Amino acid sequence: MHFRHKTVWITGASSGIGKALAEQLAGKGARLILSARNEAALNELNTELGGKHCVVPLDLARPEHLLEHLPNTLDRIGKVDILINNAGLSQRSLFLENEFSVYRQLMEVNYFGLIALTKVVLPQMVNRGSGMVVSISSVAGKVGSKFRTGYSGSKYAVVGFMDCLRAEVAAHNIHCLTICPGSIKTAIAHNSLDPKGHAQNKPEQSIENGMDVNKAAAKMLKAIAAKKDEVVIGEGISGLAPTIKRFFPRLFNRLTARMNYR
Ligand SMILES: NC(=O)c1ccc[n+]([C@@H]2O[C@H](COP(=O)([O-])OP(=O)(O)OC[C@H]3O[C@@H](n4cnc5c(N)ncnc54)[C@H](OP(=O)(O)O)[C@@H]3O)[C@@H](O)[C@H]2O)c1
Repeated sequence: MHFRHKTVWITGASSGIGKALAEQLAGKGARLILSARNEAALNELNTELGGKHCVVPLDLARPEHLLEHLPNTLDRIGKVDILINNAGLSQRSLFLENEFSVYRQLMEVNYFGLIALTKVVLPQMVNRGSGMVVSISSVAGKVGSKFRTGYSGSKYAVVGFMDCLRAEVAAHNIHCLTICPGSIKTAIAHNSLDPKGHAQNKPEQSIENGMDVNKAAAKMLKAIAAKKDEVVIGEGISGLAPTIKRFFPRLFNRLTARMNYR
């Protein structure tokens, strides 16, 4: 598949992976719908990309609001060929210390928000008999580790949702791809929630040493073009973790109990 003249809706386009995907897709001739909360950052990106794309600010933490208001926006946008559910939020906090609201916040943004946007966009793909839904889960959606009880739960949920959706829409010629990145060098650790649900505002070594974001985005676009079902994209232990867990689960569980990626 090529991206020229395709309309691609990307959430989380204001930063990190989403921004890198937007830049590379624009270079390949795609027409973009850029979404996130930070409207100024989206407008700046649109200007950087020649000003010909569409900015749709939204807050995934308000899924009911999206379900009510986005259909009008979609009428204005028209055809969407590819939806990339990329926006997300992580955490670096222990279960015993977390306020319950941390779990609600992670599920709203990473899971319910993703479902709401998919629910808005999918019907026109079904009517047309073509389209692609791409969701960025995580290696944390395949394996668990400390400090991520809510994040991992939300990302496992995305994997399950996408597996079921893939089965349901295959007959409509709609393809579903789940991308599970390992550590990618972005602002994700800075934006990760602390036990009170606030951004921790500090870096994490494994993310700082993670894969270059442009390299990761290029691999993601390759997986989209090849219409893969699920891919893991990462270097070193973060990319190998799902395979290690699958073949050596007890060893993997012992290792994760000793590791402190915070
Ligand atoms: N970096 C990694 O190592 C890694 C690994 C595995 C999976 N991932 C996943 O990759 C995706 C992108 O993360 P990233 O690494 O690029 O992190 P990032 O630099 O922190 O970007 C996160 C993006 O999500 C948007 N976002 C956050 N909360 C939102 C909300 N309530 N409504 C709408 N948009 C929201 C942010 O935009 P605003 O703040 O403007 O809203 C931002 O554009 C996430 O789903 C993340 O879980 C990342």
